[in-house]
Amino acid sequence: MSRLENKVAIVTGAASGMGEATAKLFAAQGAKVVAADINVAGLERVVAEVKAAGGEIVAKQVDIGNEEMIKDMIQTAVDTYGRLDILMNNAARLDFHKDVNVKDMDVFEWDETMRYNLKSVMLGTKYALPVMIENGGGSIINTASMGGQVGEMTKSAYAAAKAGVISLTRSTAVQFGKQGIRCNAIAPGMVMPKDRIDNAPEALAALIDIYKDIKLLDRIGDPMDIANLALFLASDESSFITGQVINSDGGMLVQNPTVNALKKANISW
Ligand SMILES: NC(=O)c1ccc[n+]([C@@H]2O[C@H](COP(=O)([O-])OP(=O)(O)OC[C@H]3O[C@@H](n4cnc5c(N)ncnc54)[C@H](O)[C@@H]3O)[C@@H](O)[C@H]2O)c1
Repeated sequence: MSRLENKVAIVTGAASGMGEATAKLFAAQGAKVVAADINVAGLERVVAEVKAAGGEIVAKQVDIGNEEMIKDMIQTAVDTYGRLDILMNNAARLDFHKDVNVKDMDVFEWDETMRYNLKSVMLGTKYALPVMIENGGGSIINTASMGGQVGEMTKSAYAAAKAGVISLTRSTAVQFGKQGIRCNAIAPGMVMPKDRIDNAPEALAALIDIYKDIKLLDRIGDPMDIANLALFLASDESSFITGQVINSDGGMLVQNPTVNALKKANISW
């Protein structure tokens, strides 16, 4: 039996990366999927591929910075498939050039990052909850980040927004558990599709090498790593798990910060 049989799911950011991998995996596991993204051409490609594989999916263009469009996205699941069981708040934005250290922070960029990366998660959750509660429950999965749990050299707004996503995940779990709502966050480390790794420009390739070096496992993440975790959190197999932040980062955050330097210096301590 498929792991998401008879369930209806919305995945935001479904036109690429982790959202695409998750939407496809959910559909392959029997869910009826609303694939939501701002990128219509990307959505059309994903929907065509899922349908060709026999899955049930509908595309919904949404700008997650727009409250009315988020409300409409939730309504699309109800109008198309009659219910909503799973919401993955996954889409986000990051502008490396403007989202820098706190002293040099572009204040407009700060506000926009909060709007797209934190307020959007609150709004998706706010409008999904009444529909899910009416069904008897549901699973909300928020994509947070390693960056929401540590201090960063740059991208201060992104990291603060993702820390907010973690807090919101816990509040949602605390407030609505008795009504059958589970809410968990996935915190990816560095994740990239293989073709992007293979074609990475020099600066990115150097960054990938640094990440590979620090991790316990000898690779960076693939979008399927996140999709597989999202599938578990969406399915009834995780029905006793709520309010959790699960790192899928190849062991990046679990180490004593001195471990890598000790290994390099060949010191056993
Ligand atoms: N890739 C990583 O290394 C990494 C690490 C930690 C956390 N994350 C988080 O994982 C999530 C997915 O990242 P990814 O690497 O798969 O990204 P990606 O860039 O491959 O995909 C993001 C998708 O979101 C869509 N999107 C962007 N702005 C939107 C908007 N305003 N409205 C609707 N859709 C919009 C894009 O069109 C795109 O399809 C994000 O929340 C990101 O912050 C990524």
